[in-house]
Amino acid sequence: MTDLRAVPKIELHLHLEGAAPPALVRRLGAEQGKDLTGLFDETGGYAWSDFTTFLAAYETMSKVFEDPETYADLTEAVLLEQAANGVVYSEIFLSPPSLFGGDCGRWEAMRAAAEEGADRVQGIDCRFIPVVIRHHGPELALTGTLTMLKAPRGRIRGFGMAGDERAFQPQDFAGCFARAREAGLRLTAHAGEFGGPESVRAALDDLHVERIGHGVRAIEDPALVARLAAESVTLEVCPGSNLALGLYPSIAAHPVAPLREAGCRVTISTDDPPFFRDTMTKEYEALSKTFGWGDADFETLYRTALDAAFCGPETKAALARRLDGGARSLSSAEKEGPRA
Ligand code: ADE
Ligand code: ZN
Repeated sequence: MTDLRAVPKIELHLHLEGAAPPALVRRLGAEQGKDLTGLFDETGGYAWSDFTTFLAAYETMSKVFEDPETYADLTEAVLLEQAANGVVYSEIFLSPPSLFGGDCGRWEAMRAAAEEGADRVQGIDCRFIPVVIRHHGPELALTGTLTMLKAPRGRIRGFGMAGDERAFQPQDFAGCFARAREAGLRLTAHAGEFGGPESVRAALDDLHVERIGHGVRAIEDPALVARLAAESVTLEVCPGSNLALGLYPSIAAHPVAPLREAGCRVTISTDDPPFFRDTMTKEYEALSKTFGWGDADFETLYRTALDAAFCGPETKAALARRLDGGARSLSSAEKEGPRA
């Protein structure tokens, strides 16, 4: 198989904390004297067994990021790993522990540190998307949203929601999304992962999102698939995450290809790569091997993600040019990228 690492990629669905390398978390945990009991397995990777224990491990891991300053090294490490897999642009979810409970100073210190980490890495551009955590409840979500909206934006372009889709209803977070939209942020929400088609409908109707994180279980309702296609809703599909979390038994049984064939706007991402032993290269290899996707399909993925990206037109134009040059032939001028 050809080396798919160098194929230029755009990733729209990546959790910054969820992408933390285990070695970084272990180091920070030791420096801070944090109790990370049970977080790692015997190979040194993250230990979890299903969605519930995954979310619990995620909370434990996040404890090392209670210090806002840690976000510089975290962001740098994550972007370096993405760039090593041919990602030239990414949109990254930020969900610091409890959204710093409404502490504006800590939020701003975290955001500034994340910007500093992003500035350190060449060859990849990024934007940030703060996300509220559904299972932490609407009250904390609103506090976090209002705090975030008061602070400077930097690379923040969107707003979203992650967490356990089995808790609460999208409607419960409608106020957060309305405020974010009024403030000019673009919207996305996790839905159709551990919730069915009704959950995707609720995200569209109650939160007015233009992108859906995952959305794959829309496949269970042909009318919803037709709606997603007709309304040009972009799906942030993360096949490796879905397989690891047990949604589908194999990539062959995953709905990514049928959704695409039905006219849905499909993009590919890794979600929380070290938790799932995943990389963007592995995602592309699986799509190539299982569905025979090749250069033309990967170019379509890039253009679809570019179209759905929350950055401005100048950045999009630069990213369109990168596609022609390939991930490895970026000029240094383009590497810097405009801050649109
Ligand atoms: N947060 C991090 N990964 C997630 C996932 N796959 N689903 C919901 N919330 C998440
Ligand atoms: Zn996610």
